[in-house]
Amino acid sequence: MRILVTGSSSIAARGVARFVARSIQAHPALVLGLPTGRTMIPVYETLVAFHRRGQADFRRVTTFNLDEFIGLPPMSGGTFRAFMARHLFAHVNLRRGATHFPPSESDGSRYDAAIDRAGGLDLCIVGIGANGHVGFNEPAAQLSAVTHRVRLLPATRRANAYLFGGRMRDVPRWAMSMGIGTILQARAIVLLATGPDKAAVVRRAFGGVVTTRVPASLLQTHPNVLVVLDRTAARGLAR
Ligand code: GLP
Repeated sequence: MRILVTGSSSIAARGVARFVARSIQAHPALVLGLPTGRTMIPVYETLVAFHRRGQADFRRVTTFNLDEFIGLPPMSGGTFRAFMARHLFAHVNLRRGATHFPPSESDGSRYDAAIDRAGGLDLCIVGIGANGHVGFNEPAAQLSAVTHRVRLLPATRRANAYLFGGRMRDVPRWAMSMGIGTILQARAIVLLATGPDKAAVVRRAFGGVVTTRVPASLLQTHPNVLVVLDRTAARGLAR
């Protein structure tokens, strides 16, 4: 695992966007795992800017999002599909049908099979929840390796209330998430965490211990992980 500490959250986000753009330049048919979350908004803004400058061509790229809520009407602005359209998909040249979200109506094995058929994830970008979740793999005694249905913890629903005008009661209680095994099968993983609110969890996730109580800590077992932090999120890591 490599840890890169940058001077600010915008430099960190730009660094991740540059990593994605370079990966697409190297492998135009890149299969990309993508997260949602406020941390990612500047990454997607930068990717859109790169695309407009001709530095990121998504024509042959395929995307698989990490997670999606269950039970929202398809046109709801709170879905992760709407988030991705708003921040990235509507602004770049991805092909129709090249973007994927975990299915809410069936078991997740269809999603894992679709990722396999696409050749597996070349690169998976992830964030981290303040409780250590990655995708929607919530802290627990056991984690599901494959794409599965998750009951969201209250803290996670609170953290996602911004998608619903701040109304926690509107945040779904259930979601589908790629499993931790699906994520760990990606050839490369980049985790971005910024801001002082993530300092404590960054330390628990990357301080050396691996535990399902901090799902992101399992990334330490992967041979090709880059953790990108700003200075405030890195506070607390022994360096
Ligand atoms: C959500 C997403 C995660 C994301 C996390 C962090 O719950 N399902 O994939 O990493 O929140 O979000 P934020 O960047 O807003 O802190």
